[in-house]
Amino acid sequence: MAKLKILEFPDPRLRKKAIPVETVDDDLRALIADMFETMYDAPGIGLAATQVDVHLRLLVTDVSSDKSEPYVLINPEIVEMDGVTVTEEGCLSVPGYYDSVERADHIRVRFLDRDGKETEMEAEGLLAVCIQHEIDHLDGKLFVDYLSEAKRQRVRKKLEKERRHAAASAM
Ligand code: NI
Repeated sequence: MAKLKILEFPDPRLRKKAIPVETVDDDLRALIADMFETMYDAPGIGLAATQVDVHLRLLVTDVSSDKSEPYVLINPEIVEMDGVTVTEEGCLSVPGYYDSVERADHIRVRFLDRDGKETEMEAEGLLAVCIQHEIDHLDGKLFVDYLSEAKRQRVRKKLEKERRHAAASAM
């Protein structure tokens, strides 16, 4: 297993739209293992392939506090959604920034599991929010897109400034 590099906003590669996975094979399962390692190490509760610069429709999540609820969703598609919930969200691609986003509180999602088998599940609360957040990544969308333009620019400037400082001290 290997830890993968996570792209950070405003990297244009985060805006690519991912294409469907055609074959669920050992190569894909190796990528899934690396994505879990990367997500747990960060630490985070969800990671979309887009964030590690692989533009396939694949995401992993685990909203538990003890790594006990790992889910792999390949070619996920939300087939039902209802209710409204507002959650303080963060994102591994927008480090150190959190803000409130409104999403559906309950979803039904159809996907292929890690064996390539078509599956459906219902999710609510944080898991539902996380899956919606990750599917947005696959469509090239970030949670900061739900904020005002002014707020998004502030986040962008702050992250760019922090990266300049990091580069300077790494010399
Ligand atoms: Ni994210």
